[in-house]
Amino acid sequence: IIFENSKEASVLVAQEIAELIRTKESKNKPCVLGLATGSSPIRVYEELIRMHREEGLSFANVITFNLDEYYPMDKNNIQSYFYFMHEHLFNHIDILPENINIPDGNVSSEDLYQSCIDYEMKIKAYGGLDFQLLGIGRTGHIGFNEPGSHLNSGTRSITLDHITRVDAAPTFLGIDNVPRKAITMGIGTVLAAKRIVLLGWGSNKAEILKETIEGEITSEVPATYLQNHDNTTFIIDEGASSEL
Ligand code: GLP
Repeated sequence: IIFENSKEASVLVAQEIAELIRTKESKNKPCVLGLATGSSPIRVYEELIRMHREEGLSFANVITFNLDEYYPMDKNNIQSYFYFMHEHLFNHIDILPENINIPDGNVSSEDLYQSCIDYEMKIKAYGGLDFQLLGIGRTGHIGFNEPGSHLNSGTRSITLDHITRVDAAPTFLGIDNVPRKAITMGIGTVLAAKRIVLLGWGSNKAEILKETIEGEITSEVPATYLQNHDNTTFIIDEGASSEL
């Protein structure tokens, strides 16, 4: 769906999420949300915060699993996705701290493998993700599933692509400070979500969105795997749709 601007589109995405939360709440069930970082979802989070403050939307029944985290990365570091999520959403809503799940960038290298397995198992234990929010990187990554990622991949550590590190360089005040690795949910983890919404704003996403939506399905552009998911919507603005 192509929107004139990202603001209007983000409000609609937030409304869908709010409706899902309320429906689950009315059935006394948890609502399991997969969340993304980056600039793309910020307005969705702003709208959810507004709904919490002005319309009494409660997140008491919400369980969240974030897509990814840099590795190694301390939680308190302002570049961490842990920090990002608290700053842009969690600190402003009534979610229970124990219901927030973000891959642990502090885990030792010996415990890394097991912590990824545990993350995957925890998502499954909740019955999988009800809703997954995605952005897209210029390499075609979703989460940090870089080119070469396997269709059935689960949560794991991954080496970041050079382009991804270049794009992250401003936040880290130089590419040398950007971690070389990350922990990410897998393609298989994401595709198991019951509903997926990918956000893409601006002309710098136009080329990769064309490949993602119109190109052949290939591990070289991991986001193309979404073509096989039967409940995915790409919500993009006019700039991002310019190559379609
Ligand atoms: C990072 C994140 C992705 C995100 C991407 C795009 O690489 N790991 O989950 O989709 O950035 O970021 P932005 O939304 O800022 O364009």
